[in-house]
Amino acid sequence: MHIQFNQSRPQGARLIAHVVDKGKLPSATNAAMRAGAEAARFRGNTGQTFDGFVEDGGEVARLALAGAGEKNSDARLANLEKAGAALTAKYQSSGDKELVLDLSESDLSADEAAHVLLGLRLRNWRYDIYRTKLKDDQKITLESVTVVGGPDGIEDAWAEASALAEGVEFTRELVTEPANIIYPESFVARCQERFEGTGAELVVLDEAQMEELGMGSLLGVGQGSSRDSRILAIRWNGGGSEAPTAFVGKGVTFDTGGISIKPGPGMEDMKWDMGGAGAVAGGMLSLVKRKAKANVVGVMGLVENMPDGNAQRPGDVVTSMSGQTIEILNTDAEGRLVLADALHWTQKEFKPARIVDFATLTGAIIISLGNEYAGLFSNDDTLSKELADAGEAVGDKVWRMPIGKAYDKLIDSPIADMKNIGGKGAGSITAAQFLQRFILDDTPWAHIDIAGTAWSEKPGRTWGKGATGFGVRLIDRLVADTAEG
Ligand code: BES
Ligand code: MN
Ligand code: ZN
Repeated sequence: MHIQFNQSRPQGARLIAHVVDKGKLPSATNAAMRAGAEAARFRGNTGQTFDGFVEDGGEVARLALAGAGEKNSDARLANLEKAGAALTAKYQSSGDKELVLDLSESDLSADEAAHVLLGLRLRNWRYDIYRTKLKDDQKITLESVTVVGGPDGIEDAWAEASALAEGVEFTRELVTEPANIIYPESFVARCQERFEGTGAELVVLDEAQMEELGMGSLLGVGQGSSRDSRILAIRWNGGGSEAPTAFVGKGVTFDTGGISIKPGPGMEDMKWDMGGAGAVAGGMLSLVKRKAKANVVGVMGLVENMPDGNAQRPGDVVTSMSGQTIEILNTDAEGRLVLADALHWTQKEFKPARIVDFATLTGAIIISLGNEYAGLFSNDDTLSKELADAGEAVGDKVWRMPIGKAYDKLIDSPIADMKNIGGKGAGSITAAQFLQRFILDDTPWAHIDIAGTAWSEKPGRTWGKGATGFGVRLIDRLVADTAEG
């Protein structure tokens, strides 16, 4: 969606939108519209919409109102995003190609107005490339938004926000693509295309290189697949000489469970088991596009988990790059095996000051937290607080869960250094304990389990049904608030 800025309303515009604070209709509303709004109980509540037709200089225009709630709400920015999102949700297939956002009567700051646009743009995203038989009235028609009478500085504010939108959209694209299209090599290729000319440095490890490094844990997961595994690192040096912040993502491009195969119904969801890697790729894209003044590296462990004559078996023992051995008791607990080597390599290669990993790691986190909060596990109170605050600010919310020695014991193995599953209870925690065994020297580390938040069965705040892009805004905000001078 194209967003542009104008002094005055373009000729012939038919769809004119206003953002309405609670109880404040714009002056252009005529008596009929006012009565209609009242009858429809439109009050400007957050996300509420109402429209009607007005005559203006001999032309009839459709006047759309989007509620932004109370002006001095603590959730002002989120509410403004919802107002923008409500507009695109309603008009993206209305037949109109252009929406004029008339801010001439509003007193929004540049930053606030940019949030309206962010909501508008994020909610308009849909991936229709495989839907070749959509009827005309099902297609997205909305192509551009023209902002009229916006505040000073809105273009700069939007330049920053649009970098964020690009990142979120890239993540959604990667997550939405089916597993016959996005597999480890094509994931890498798509990133290479997208980061071309941005100044980011991409490093790719193939299977021979990973073999050389001793990544038996990651390679074991991919060994049943005819697709080769990969590690992708995206590096951005926008800061001084300080050690980078590392983001590490689980990129299982399809998770059948392997020999411990999953039941058929719902297995198609496992195309988005690369949501952690997707969030890292999109987060890096946002940072790079807005030229963040920080040193950051994103590392993605990319594999496909398939059952096969060559697949690993329950009971197998593998040796990770760290030298620690792992007894595989369930080949469906594969994400932690991928992350084990990705985390170890990240620390050896980039000496990060802190590490945050993202993974659709456990079904158990959905039992614990549903789809509202992602699970946060960490060895560091400062990093936890920074993540919780950043998440609250941008809507990618995380809730801290406990970890500790008593849980760690649950993954001891009688034959190897550890086993890849715990017992019946605390499935998300034992998964986190497993990851922690691959963190060196108490490096500040946080693990974010996004199994409940990467994908949505119903439209939400700024997304439709499907990939949410969770994690991108969290990454962007964490870096902005804690790593940029
Ligand atoms: N990718 C799944 C976790 C998952 C489940 C993500 C539902 C998104 C939605 C992960 O690899 C997995 O299979 N975990 C197992 C672990 C178990 C075998 C210890 C699980 O959660 O059942
Ligand atoms: Mn699995
Ligand atoms: Zn998985």
